[in-house]
Amino acid sequence: MATEKTFYLETFGCQMNAHDSEKVIGTLRQQGYRQVESEEEAGLILYNTCSIRDKAEQKVFHRLNDYKKLYKEGKRFGVLGCVAQQEGEKIFEKAPFVSLVSGSASYRKLPEMIARLEAGESRITGLDDRQTDETFETEFTARQNPYRGYITIIEGCDKFCSYCVVPYTRGKERSRTSSSVLAEARRIADLGYTEIQLLGQNVNSYRDPEGKLSFAELLAAVGQVPGIRRVRFTTSHPRDFTRDIVDAIDAVPTLCDHVHLPVQSGSARVLKQMAREYTPDWYLERIAWMRSARRSISLSTDIIVGFPGETEDDFIDTMDLLARVQYDCVFAFKYSARPNTPALVMIDAIPESEKAHRLQVLLDRQREIQRSNYSRHIGEEMEVMVEGLNPARGQVAGRSSQNKAVNFTCGQPIAPAPGSYCQVRITGAYPNSLTGESI
Ligand code: SAH
Ligand code: SF4
Ligand code: F3S
Repeated sequence: MATEKTFYLETFGCQMNAHDSEKVIGTLRQQGYRQVESEEEAGLILYNTCSIRDKAEQKVFHRLNDYKKLYKEGKRFGVLGCVAQQEGEKIFEKAPFVSLVSGSASYRKLPEMIARLEAGESRITGLDDRQTDETFETEFTARQNPYRGYITIIEGCDKFCSYCVVPYTRGKERSRTSSSVLAEARRIADLGYTEIQLLGQNVNSYRDPEGKLSFAELLAAVGQVPGIRRVRFTTSHPRDFTRDIVDAIDAVPTLCDHVHLPVQSGSARVLKQMAREYTPDWYLERIAWMRSARRSISLSTDIIVGFPGETEDDFIDTMDLLARVQYDCVFAFKYSARPNTPALVMIDAIPESEKAHRLQVLLDRQREIQRSNYSRHIGEEMEVMVEGLNPARGQVAGRSSQNKAVNFTCGQPIAPAPGSYCQVRITGAYPNSLTGESI
């Protein structure tokens, strides 16, 4: 009797990986596999990996360390995503029980790779050499969130920031046609999705292969798809951030009033070393565009502290930038040296303890900024998309258009369903969330 084909998939890393996993799940189901919730139940165990920082990469190898017993029981292991692409066949040496290694640019070959795995092959690779022009689209995408639909509009990255693995793990930049993006947006709107998140490592580097729409025009067009109430996009690069994006947000109410614009550093010197291709002034000009918009646009960013050669003065420049911009959210990281990247050969003399200290100083300051930013919402009314319940506190949890977490009480006997929208009056604020009551 043929045993049932089952798989377990765990995803690390960014939203691009999360969405790729939705495509992988759909593809595997098409191959007759059933997804299970634990490694114990699974015949095939897959990790969709991230290698952005060393810690992220190490997580995977920890997992793969001791799988001899499970392998003998007949389970098979596959490593997908960015560590797979970066390490390639070396993974078979480091983790001998892995049978399948595939980067994201090769997922369209998954059915064939799975067939080889089933036939007993033990070293199957799908590794692209950056050169592909194709994007991975599949009609089988198994969306894991019933109200927020991810749509990839651009894959890969051609920016080659000196610290970053992405150009090597995800290949060269390639955009989808605007007509296929819009067709997918309409399709998922018809299925009941009301929020769309457009994805890419640099969404605003988008170039329509059909030459029809610019990024800002595509954004506006997605926002006008009937049924769509919220459109988000991530991530933007300051170099390609154009003023018409702000105009689009002003003109189309369904485009969320939130922009994530990673700055990485407030020091011109460090930005140059990072090969970011902009100065703090250039960046602040884009911030000024957003601050002068009719809508109040919430801003968030990514920052790296302790980049090789970052002096105390450079760090102070970053702190100054933080004070000037007044972000609503900051993702800050200690610099992590990564394979293949140009920064690897730069002298990284800042001790780990100093990096940790700078990170803490920055996060403490940012917390105070957010405390003040968030408290300004008290008394406002806003629309919140419900994400779930917080039974411990008897509150409904959701998000504002600005992407702020809002926990609120609701007078009705039946709590609003995830995916529904509520008007909420804000009554309280913390540095990372708001509280309120539905009206
Ligand atoms: N495409 C986006 C970022 C993708 S990676 C952009 O250009 O901004 C997400 C974040 O991880 C980056 O913004 C950066 O802050 C951080 N990051 C990338 N490489 C890193 C490294 N080697 N060490 C520490 N943080 C890193
Ligand atoms: Fe990495 Fe820079 Fe590309 Fe962002 S733009 S993915 S930080 S190389
Ligand atoms: Fe990580 Fe790859 Fe995303 S390195 S952050 S999973 S593009």
